[in-house]
Amino acid sequence: MKKVELALGTRSYQIHIGINNLSRLGPEMRKLGLRGKVLIVTNTKVEPLYAESLIDTLKETGFSVHKAVLPDGENYKNLDNVAFIYDCAFNAGLDRQSSIIALGGGVVGDMAGFAAATYMRGINFIQVPTTLLAQVDASIGGKVAVNHPQGKNMIGAFYQPRMVFMDIATLLTLSSGEIRSGFAEIIKYGVISNHSLYSYLEEHPFLENIDNLEYWMDVVEKSCLIKAQVVSKDEREQGLRAILNFGHTIGHGLEAATSYQKYSHGEAVAIGMVGAACIAREMGLISSGEEERIKNLIGKTGLPVSYSDISWDDLWFYIQRDKKAQDGNINFILPTSIGSVILSPVDSELMRKVLEQELVK
Ligand SMILES: NC(=O)c1ccc[n+]([C@@H]2O[C@H](COP(=O)([O-])OP(=O)(O)OC[C@H]3O[C@@H](n4cnc5c(N)ncnc54)[C@H](O)[C@@H]3O)[C@@H](O)[C@H]2O)c1
Ligand SMILES: [Zn+2]
Repeated sequence: MKKVELALGTRSYQIHIGINNLSRLGPEMRKLGLRGKVLIVTNTKVEPLYAESLIDTLKETGFSVHKAVLPDGENYKNLDNVAFIYDCAFNAGLDRQSSIIALGGGVVGDMAGFAAATYMRGINFIQVPTTLLAQVDASIGGKVAVNHPQGKNMIGAFYQPRMVFMDIATLLTLSSGEIRSGFAEIIKYGVISNHSLYSYLEEHPFLENIDNLEYWMDVVEKSCLIKAQVVSKDEREQGLRAILNFGHTIGHGLEAATSYQKYSHGEAVAIGMVGAACIAREMGLISSGEEERIKNLIGKTGLPVSYSDISWDDLWFYIQRDKKAQDGNINFILPTSIGSVILSPVDSELMRKVLEQELVK
């Protein structure tokens, strides 16, 4: 079992990373002084796979256990389903000493977290992430939210969990498409702050390691360390935390311009990272050799490095909506080498030229 600390003063917590460790959750919660009732929030896909082992360990350590099982999918990440979680919590008699445990991917984690943040003005929250994306990203850092017809994650809060507890073996039941999508965020961590992680990913392709749990322990731990360090310095995204958006400005634009149907989040971010690298090279910020390395690793991973059938006007509309443009400039996270990035304004005409010449297929 590995542990990564997220340092946030009195709200600090640990990220536990292990293999087949779910039976340890109960004792670890006791160590935090938690007791009484817990509500496991999960979905119809994850519940039959992993809920049982959690229920056993929690009962063995004296918790009284209840479940809220949501339908599976991003479409259900809304206030109606948060209201369902509140109903389950009231029916089970959860009080201010009780805990909500999110068991699942980022959708379940974001919804359960929002419910935990607001039920009785906030009760204990534990993340048990079961997708690669949730393990390296969504479960860490305290952003919790639901979608609104006006946009994704528009209703939310910052609410840190008491603990993040992950079993790397849960990745074995995840589809390779979901793994690949989460892998885009790991590549992101390499580019924004860790050259040696990046080189390791180049030398150890994930496709050759997809069932290698030691490999995942290693790269998940390194990713969690980076996210934890960034969040501990800038919990509420006043500055530094924005580097985690590398690849996401264009990525969010592509997702929105295609109504979230064409690309997975990781695929859109992959294209966005390639776009940002090309823009950085065009602006003379990064060498073409390093830009190529970014493109190559993304391509070798099986993630897209180009896009088609989306007009510049559409893409620009959604990019602007996501990030306010100032005088035709958008603030971008751009790589200056592998392992470091800067925030810089980018002129929309330059962006258009680079994307049309190098990314549109
Ligand atoms: N809070 C944050 O900081 C943050 C960061 C990034 C993303 N997010 C949010 O996370 C969500 C995406 O998360 P995701 O990619 O985990 O998607 P997801 O939660 O929809 O999970 C993907 C699919 O995998 C299934 N699944 C989960 N664990 C499984 C397992 N071990 N085996 C088999 N199937 C499993 C899920 O039921 C779902 O069908 C988005 O809503 C996004 O907004 C939040
Ligand atoms: Zn992302």
